Amino acid sequence: MADLLIGQTLTFAGDALAGGPEAARHSARGGVLVEGGRIAAVGEADDLRRAHPQARVTDYGRGLISAGFIDAHVHYPQTAMIASWGKRLIDWLNLYTFPEEMRFADPAYAAEIAGRYFDLVLSCGTTSVASYCTIHPESVEAFFTAAADRGMRVWGGKTCMDRNAPAGLCDTAQSAYDDSRQLLERWHGRGRASYVITPRFSPTSTPAQLDALGTLWREHPEVLMQTHLSEQLDEIAWVRSLYPDARDYLDTYEAHGLLGPGALFGHAIHLEPREIDRIAEVGASVIHCPTSNMFIGSGLFRARALSDRGLRIGLATDTGGGSSFSMLRTMAAAYEVGQLAGTALHPAALWWLATAGSAATLGAGDRIGRLAPGLEADLVVIDLASTPAIAQRSARADDLWGALFPTIMMGDDRAIRDVWVGGRQVARR
Ligand code: GUN
Ligand code: ZN
Repeated sequence: MADLLIGQTLTFAGDALAGGPEAARHSARGGVLVEGGRIAAVGEADDLRRAHPQARVTDYGRGLISAGFIDAHVHYPQTAMIASWGKRLIDWLNLYTFPEEMRFADPAYAAEIAGRYFDLVLSCGTTSVASYCTIHPESVEAFFTAAADRGMRVWGGKTCMDRNAPAGLCDTAQSAYDDSRQLLERWHGRGRASYVITPRFSPTSTPAQLDALGTLWREHPEVLMQTHLSEQLDEIAWVRSLYPDARDYLDTYEAHGLLGPGALFGHAIHLEPREIDRIAEVGASVIHCPTSNMFIGSGLFRARALSDRGLRIGLATDTGGGSSFSMLRTMAAAYEVGQLAGTALHPAALWWLATAGSAATLGAGDRIGRLAPGLEADLVVIDLASTPAIAQRSARADDLWGALFPTIMMGDDRAIRDVWVGGRQVARR
């Protein structure tokens, strides 16, 4: 039976970061018809009701129906150590992250955290994620299994490291290639799962390991590749000393076959002009992780400047370097980082980044991220008056953006009124 969801609807017909709010499509009394896991129609509520009298109606009133949020860079294994105090990137990795990731050799622990992680993000309205797992194949199994149990479209991969990490967290060039290939062949395209080739970052891979993963990517160009790029100045100096022949940080990946249109570079804060030009030329993506960049003290991502240079940009929590599971909180942080960098990002740009923009970086803009016929029915319904503070502010609004911005800046999981995954209602509040 078809479901007809009624409320305000918000989606995009183009890039609202590059093109502004004119790219948005809003209806104050719209509807989304869901059938067989997909969006069958989007339009005015009254028209859809008349055309589909048999559909089961869920009327959200003034609730805002949007594509579900898409978190384009996370580390699900860092769920239990989010908000760890006082360290910058390299010390933070060594003191908090690596000991926690060590625990994922245990499949039961990996399964427990994967389930906990997905339940947390669903409660925040996030319906898709691209995650790093740990070096353990068991952590990848746990990730894809927990996502499949919930029907979610997800991207994930085994994190590869063969140096500058504890012995218990190191693979080799060969085992990274073998394990990644096996997991890719097992999971990529199975249900809603997509495998991602995942070297953690240049400092924790030898050139031989980057080469091996570059070879795997050449053999499987249908998958994405995710890694970190230019997050902190200390890290960049370290990369320079480890790769003395590289032109810059990006070149450490490019020299080993790890640059292409399907490359996702997390952070990308302190880029050289050549790196920006090259990423634009190749059509790779950069992923903005604003709560993480402030929490770990990394720096200010230049969203406006990079968008103007033609880079494709996604938005992400970077859990647990990021300090929240919520894409609402992440949009607020992107706004704050934008202000510090000299540009106030419009609410339309923020919402676009969290939905259609992130979908585009994952090469999935024709499947998720917008309300449009044929797309998969991953939806979030937002209460625009979820707390007294937000309600009194949005009551003053005279347009959609004025009504939405208080929820972007002050909203949390209480604003998530409902979530639909693959056409199934999962989180009714
Ligand atoms: N760089 C390499 N690994 C990580 C990680 O786990 N989190 C963040 N924020 N940066 C990284
Ligand atoms: Zn990361």
